[in-house]
Amino acid sequence: MEFEISSYKKEDSWEAEIIIGKKDKYKEFGFKCENEETLLLLERKKFIIAIDKLDEENIKIASAKIAKTLKEKTECFKIRAPKTRNIDILENFIEGFILGDYEFDKYKSKKAKHLKKVIISGNEELLQTAIRVATIRAKAINFTRDIVNSMPDEIYPVVMADIAKKVAKENGYECNIYDEKYLKKEGYGAFYAVAKASSHKPRLIHLAYKPKSAKKRVVLVGKGLTYDSGGLSLKPADFMVTMKSDKSGASAVLGIMKAVKELGLDVEVHGIIGATENMIGGNAYKPDDVLTAKNGKTIEVRNTDAEGRLVLADCLCYAQEHIKDFDYIFDFATLTGACVVALGEYTSGVMGYNDKTKNLVVEMGKKVAELYAPLPFNRYLPKLLKSNVADICNIASSRYGGAITAGLFLSEFIEEDNKDKWTHIDIAGPAFVEKDWGYNPHGATGAGVDMMLRLLYEIQK
Ligand code: BES
Ligand code: ZN
Ligand code: ZN
Repeated sequence: MEFEISSYKKEDSWEAEIIIGKKDKYKEFGFKCENEETLLLLERKKFIIAIDKLDEENIKIASAKIAKTLKEKTECFKIRAPKTRNIDILENFIEGFILGDYEFDKYKSKKAKHLKKVIISGNEELLQTAIRVATIRAKAINFTRDIVNSMPDEIYPVVMADIAKKVAKENGYECNIYDEKYLKKEGYGAFYAVAKASSHKPRLIHLAYKPKSAKKRVVLVGKGLTYDSGGLSLKPADFMVTMKSDKSGASAVLGIMKAVKELGLDVEVHGIIGATENMIGGNAYKPDDVLTAKNGKTIEVRNTDAEGRLVLADCLCYAQEHIKDFDYIFDFATLTGACVVALGEYTSGVMGYNDKTKNLVVEMGKKVAELYAPLPFNRYLPKLLKSNVADICNIASSRYGGAITAGLFLSEFIEEDNKDKWTHIDIAGPAFVEKDWGYNPHGATGAGVDMMLRLLYEIQK
């Protein structure tokens, strides 16, 4: 999709209009200007959407709805940019068009229609910046969406590694990829156990973007379960469907990595991905097994479906051993159904020991219209992970607070000096939703990408 900044001409083209607040303008059509109310005037070639006020979330949803509707009618339309100097709002305005134009049609015979051009009138200087930044961010999100939406027989760990290699090659990043032999030999016993039964071999992927004058060093770790059947603690049929999306954390990390160089961010960013399947078979790891993670801690397996934390535990160990003096370490994971129960399917859970960073995630989320909520650790919950046979259990002994106990499990693999630098983000809800919502389509959303790109921009200042 292409954007053209120009004055308001082109008589015969389609036009979109965003109405802010109550206006009488389209009263004759019974248009009440309620939030997200739309009106399509076919003869006038006009599409109207109302928002109750101009903010980061409303504008992104409005432009996405415009794109989604108009791509079925035309390839080109014109629109006036909202009158504001708030760059976040202008970026979301542009992003919305690209995100709303997205449709996953890889497996359909009939291909989707797309917009070719949006003609925008408004402040040229501000719009130019907004278009440049928003295009990079939205393309990264759609890139992540494509990976997550692709079926598990097409995207398995080796393919995730190939995608990482391609991103590295295109941007001049360092890229190290480790196979199952390395995991076994080097003592990544938790990650290795999860991967054991799969015919698709696991990969630990490490990408690094190192600009010379970097102001900060950030590590991003992603859960890359290209399929989660639950393992021997097999998921019920209804719960297994959509588990191709268990690679959403890893896919978000790939999307973020793709964009950091293009955005010219002055931050060193490391992307670490634990890519594997969680399958059944004669060689599968079992409830009752005791695993030893890279940091030497032993883990009693009581449920093989709590596999993400095992993979992440070893990836977090890898990160802390290989990357020195980082300022932040974030992990992204579709880690628990409990997080979806706690917050609903549109909000990600944010956990850790640093209130400032957790609040930063929530705040940056607001700027890009992604929803984040802190879930608090406390002194009582860690006891639920106690094991009688090993150092720790991979599931809690209570059925309550599962998102937090999963986060607390991960914290066992964060070194004392790094506790304050670590933030865990459970994207199990918003990463993949089987209906469209807001500016998102059915399926993968690219949750985490926009917030993290905005956060990286913030911390380089
Ligand atoms: N990948 C799932 C979590 C998940 C559930 C993601 C629903 C997206 C939507 C994870 O590996 C899992 O199965 N977790 C278990 C943990 C339990 C066994 C302690 C869960 O949430 O039920
Ligand atoms: Zn699982
Ligand atoms: Zn999982």
